[in-house]
Amino acid sequence: MTAPKKYILAIESSCDDTSAAVLCGAKVLSNVVATQEIHRQYGGVVPELASRAHQQNIVPVVHQALVKANIDKKHLSAIAFTRGPGLMGSLLVGTSFAKSLALGLDIPLIAVNHMEAHILAHFIEDPERTPPKFPFLALTISGGHTQIVKVSGHFSMEILGESLDDAVGEAFDKSAKLMGLPYPGGPLIDQYAQSGDPLAFAFPKPKVEGLNFSFSGLKTSILYFLQRRTKENPDFVQQNIQDIAASVQYTILEILMDKLREAVEITGIKEVAIGGGVAANSGIRSRLREAEDRWGWKTYVPKFEYCTDNAAMIGIVGFLKFEKGEFTDQRVAAKARYALGS
Ligand code: KG4
Ligand code: ZN
Repeated sequence: MTAPKKYILAIESSCDDTSAAVLCGAKVLSNVVATQEIHRQYGGVVPELASRAHQQNIVPVVHQALVKANIDKKHLSAIAFTRGPGLMGSLLVGTSFAKSLALGLDIPLIAVNHMEAHILAHFIEDPERTPPKFPFLALTISGGHTQIVKVSGHFSMEILGESLDDAVGEAFDKSAKLMGLPYPGGPLIDQYAQSGDPLAFAFPKPKVEGLNFSFSGLKTSILYFLQRRTKENPDFVQQNIQDIAASVQYTILEILMDKLREAVEITGIKEVAIGGGVAANSGIRSRLREAEDRWGWKTYVPKFEYCTDNAAMIGIVGFLKFEKGEFTDQRVAAKARYALGS
């Protein structure tokens, strides 16, 4: 007799995307994301507005995820939700909703760490991809985080290095803002960089001990560079936007690749998996392909929709925890700071 199918409803609300997904085992049946456009006009995420938008979005987003998956909520086996890390007001919406629904349906509740989910997104069933083999190195690069993690098992993770200040996505967005580009500027820098010269302008790389990162100095040096050049020529940015974007992106990617190469040397692990919104960057993707040819790495990039914040990645962790019987009770509270593996 085959075991009954496990249907997991997953909810993600840690930052500015409200998302719900339904998984059957490790397979995604639906993954609905409502991106909050309101923050664009403020040049960054406004926590109070994010929380309010989550409250408006959560019911229709969950409803849509169930409809798209063609599943009635009475057939759900469990509810997984992002407990943290993230913005408290945002996390509270998803956490409270998940708790109430699990209570109402009388099914188990599963708490998920958002950073663990970015890494375990590689284990979502996908006929076009194979998951990385343990042990592997995971580089998580997003608007909120930059981490290199040694992953020895689904739930055996050790942070080898992380950013001491800005996350890499913030470095992209803040540089873009200095160049007069709208938020979020990361994808625009990527676009302009494709037709620019990465060696046109040199920006200093920070010296940071071990496998940690720092990006705040880069932002300052770009600021002074642009101030100096626009004083000489007020149209400097408009006339050189491709070259500036390519040079900024080149510096950021050099910082990431230097540390990643060091991590591979120290650990001897050549399986390298990336995730998070910045994994969409075309430059990092080609640098990883180069590393495969040059140094024999095996690299992994999830499908784009599982790189940026989404509930499907929360659902895969939910499924893996369901298999272990790792449930949480109704006393669980959201955690804005939630260390990996805790
Ligand atoms: O993972 P994500 O969707 O949300 C967070 O958890 O932060 O990541 C968003 C970040 C933003 O900083 C955005 O500018 C950056 O990812 N990003 C990119 C690209 N696409 C998204 N940065 C550089 N190049 C891209 N193509
Ligand atoms: Zn994220």
